[in-house]
Amino acid sequence: MSLEAMEDLHLEEPETQEVNGILMTKMISDNWDKIWNFQARPDDLLIATYAKAGTTWTQEIVDMIQNDGDVQRCQRANTFDRHPFIEWTLPPPLNSGLDLANKMPSPRTLKTHLPVQMLPPSFWEENAKIIYVARNAKDCLVSYYHFSRMNKMVPDPGTWEEYVETFKAGNVLWGSWYDHVKGWWDAKDQHPILYLFYEDMKEDPKREIEKILKFLEKDVTEEVLNKIIYHTSFDVMKQNPMANYTTLPASIMDHSISPFMRKGMPGDWKNYFTVAQNEEFDKDYQKKMEGSTLTFRTEI
Ligand code: A3P
Repeated sequence: MSLEAMEDLHLEEPETQEVNGILMTKMISDNWDKIWNFQARPDDLLIATYAKAGTTWTQEIVDMIQNDGDVQRCQRANTFDRHPFIEWTLPPPLNSGLDLANKMPSPRTLKTHLPVQMLPPSFWEENAKIIYVARNAKDCLVSYYHFSRMNKMVPDPGTWEEYVETFKAGNVLWGSWYDHVKGWWDAKDQHPILYLFYEDMKEDPKREIEKILKFLEKDVTEEVLNKIIYHTSFDVMKQNPMANYTTLPASIMDHSISPFMRKGMPGDWKNYFTVAQNEEFDKDYQKKMEGSTLTFRTEI
């Protein structure tokens, strides 16, 4: 379906349904057998994240690396068409992630928000490389809240006060942030998984891009590296229609409510959490993250 034809779509708030105890859209749930049986290939690269952790940013970095810093090549299509979002299922004639992925020649770069236990087993069997990006819970929550306000394809977040509780309880699409980041953290020593942090990428993009280069066994010149850093900076990506989701009609994503490329700053949560909410959040966080070696920075 063309983007023009999508203009006429008026999406209802999506129905949700759990798959193995994790909240998903009903479309994903109805299609679950096919998603679970997705056939990964050994030369696939998967970008896995909890929603709002910096997926699109990482996709752009990876695409720039794979295309040796050729900006024009990276503008060949929308980010969501360059990198199929494997579980994302839409009503026909819209393109679902599986259709896009199955049609795509190798080598493919794919995207998922699935928790580790729900990743189609073929990824493990084929030993495909995975980049996981994690972002601190408070900024993820704020970003997810605003995204849920502007994106008609995900459930309405309700009020800020309501959403804080919904997020803590894991009653959001793709489930609990806490279980997601811990689950992938525990998997990283048994598989080729590069586990990155949004805050580190923001602090020193060069250092983190170099980690990705090493993981992908790629080498670029200093000039290309600098081009990648520039092209994938927040300000430049915000202006890039192939990366900022503005080509979608407002009936799907309404950037006047909140832009997809919103702030891109660690620590923005301080503008939203009240002192009491923060204290409660921290207490609950300690309990949920107890026993894990995984630590986050909530500001840089
Ligand atoms: P904010 O809402 O906090 O601004 P995802 O791609 O996983 O949906 O994540 C979206 C979040 O990543 C948004 O966060 C968005 O602004 C931020 N983001 C996207 N590109 C970025 C970049 N180049 N640098 C920093 N943050 C970026």
